[in-house]
Amino acid sequence: MTIHVIDHPLLHHKLSLIRDRKTPGSLFRMLLEEAGLILATESTRALPTESVVVETPLERTGSLRLKPLDPVLVPVLRAGLGLLPSFLQLMPTAKVGHLGLYRDHDSLVPVPYYRNFPPLLEARPVFVLDPMLATGGSASEAVRQLKAAGAVNMSLVALLAAPEGLERLQKDHPDLTIVVGAVDRQLNEKGYILPGLGDAGDRLFGTV
Ligand code: PRP
Ligand code: URA
Repeated sequence: MTIHVIDHPLLHHKLSLIRDRKTPGSLFRMLLEEAGLILATESTRALPTESVVVETPLERTGSLRLKPLDPVLVPVLRAGLGLLPSFLQLMPTAKVGHLGLYRDHDSLVPVPYYRNFPPLLEARPVFVLDPMLATGGSASEAVRQLKAAGAVNMSLVALLAAPEGLERLQKDHPDLTIVVGAVDRQLNEKGYILPGLGDAGDRLFGTV
């Protein structure tokens, strides 16, 4: 498994504001989108390109374009929706799949409730978007469902990860690429990331 932890001053700055309990929901959403642009840039480094010839106003030159088969973005509902606009801003023609999962409050086991994936998963780079990787149960289930639907080239993109979640994914999906904004200290007894940012879905959508 490849794990890339992004070390970038702009991301550190935004993360410090995102973590702050005093940051209101509207600003939280905006900051998550801004952080999402950095996550999107870093997680797409390996996208395949092809050579093209372009006529500039002055002369012909060789250049690179993305290969025509668009990537797939799969936000894990609900909190993954907070990262989707940034990825779509940079890859406006990407296809979008949706996966609804919520963690059972007591068992922390993910409960699937919605699923809609685009075709040709097997041929496209797939980016699973979820700001929070805690126990890793939700991400592991998301990747399991996508593999079962044919996906082979998958990256998980998260803003925060707990060491427990990374360990779980290493065991369940050693072939996965993971891109994260930070690896925090640990989980608390309720499965929340410490120091973390609280409940991402609740802060995004005002359901606290
Ligand atoms: C959160 C988060 C992840 C999951 C992470 O979702 O967005 O999907 O928890 O926890 P895990 O790694 O222990 O599985 P939640 O289940 O709270 O649903 P929500 O986004 O609808 O609030
Ligand atoms: N989900 C969240 O939104 N926050 C956590 O800390 C853990 C899971």
